[in-house]
Amino acid sequence: MKDLTPARDSLDPIETASRDEIAALQLDRLRWSLRHAYDNVPLYREKFDAAGVSPDDLTTLADLAKFPFTVKDDLRRSYPFNMFAVPREKIARIHASSGTTGKPTVVGYTARDLDTWADMVARSLRASGVRPGDMVHVAYGYGLFTGGLGAHYGVERLGATVVPMSGGQTARQVQLLEDFRPKAICVTPSYMLNLLEEYHRQGLDPRNSSLEVGIFGAEPWTPSMRAEIEAAFDMHAVDIYGLSEVMGPGVANECVETKDGLHIWEDHFLPEVIDPETGEVLPDGEEGELVFTTLTKEGMPVIRYRTRDLTRLMPGTARSMRRMAKVTGRSDDMIILRGVNVFPTQVEERVLATKGLAPYFQIELVRKGQMDAMRIHVECLPGGDGEACRKVLAKGIKDMIGITAEIVLAAAGGVERSQGKARRVVDNREVQNGA
Ligand code: DLL
Repeated sequence: MKDLTPARDSLDPIETASRDEIAALQLDRLRWSLRHAYDNVPLYREKFDAAGVSPDDLTTLADLAKFPFTVKDDLRRSYPFNMFAVPREKIARIHASSGTTGKPTVVGYTARDLDTWADMVARSLRASGVRPGDMVHVAYGYGLFTGGLGAHYGVERLGATVVPMSGGQTARQVQLLEDFRPKAICVTPSYMLNLLEEYHRQGLDPRNSSLEVGIFGAEPWTPSMRAEIEAAFDMHAVDIYGLSEVMGPGVANECVETKDGLHIWEDHFLPEVIDPETGEVLPDGEEGELVFTTLTKEGMPVIRYRTRDLTRLMPGTARSMRRMAKVTGRSDDMIILRGVNVFPTQVEERVLATKGLAPYFQIELVRKGQMDAMRIHVECLPGGDGEACRKVLAKGIKDMIGITAEIVLAAAGGVERSQGKARRVVDNREVQNGA
């Protein structure tokens, strides 16, 4: 793999500024953001008033803890446009995330917000090793999902060449990757595995592809998955994080030279980690729920937005800004099985560690009598010994996670393939109860 470390003088000055400079900028911007939200969004005014706080109560960054949280339900209740802090006419673009139940969450951006977003994605791409003039294949979905368009404008902002492929059409993706020879790809890690399979189907060696780096996000993925993809394509795999409510991709990104967690672009997004039970702010280093406050967003500022993503904050390394550890999972994706907490990422680790298994899996939750049970659907690689794999995986799950899972071997291609964000868990407990 090539050394893709960006030149120090190509970075934005704030990326290497002192912590004091960053904190001073954050405090200024935070004051503005709280005032902007309070003056222009009835929901924030009601919540602040109910909690007995006013934007003027903030004199230090730590004072943010006095302000109330915002949750997804607040956004749903404000459907479609009541979270906007500017007149609708000033909104230049709308995105929405479908969610699994109920109404979608709608987000809006002013022209200046879109400008900031493009800057943050350009910064993320540069941290990933992309340079002006490089070609970038964008396979995140285009449309209401923020992945495609978010990545797209960042590539353009950096001065690189964008291939706006979007998701799907796997065979065509591989053809264009081979013919156009881009240096970088932006895609979900689970869909990258589909592309890998398609390379093999077409009799191509992925290690001969032109790709030098992949910028993977939109879903949790493990260090084992990084190793799998890096080895298969002989390329760097870096992590990009974001969420529609806060902006989209480019809230935080790993630096290719260290790959040690994601630097949060703290000049625009202020992170906190809280205890999900009590709401108490945790010291850096402790794992909890990630909470974001936007510092510059005009269209739809969010104040202490609870992401449900579990991670911890760490000091900066390649940049001055703090890092977040790879997301373990979302608190709503956590499976509680007979009192044991299980995340799909833990299952991913074990599947990838089992020699002879293909890197695809899906978890099915079923009800057996009065008990919940977990089935894990997997596939063998060609020539793999199914029985042996099944035993090794079952033992790995038992030893590392502490639960007994039923391992179901599917025929080749039998496990559902990701078309974007992978569907890791299928809950059939109600179905079997006849409900
Ligand atoms: O997934 C934005 C995005 C697009 C990020 C492309 C990165 C790349 P939403 O659809 O609103 O936005 O989903 C946001 O996805 O709260 C996390 O649970 C999860 N997520 C996003 N990036 C990562 C990541 C986009 N790198 C939700 N690791 C977030 C783990 C991630 N989970």
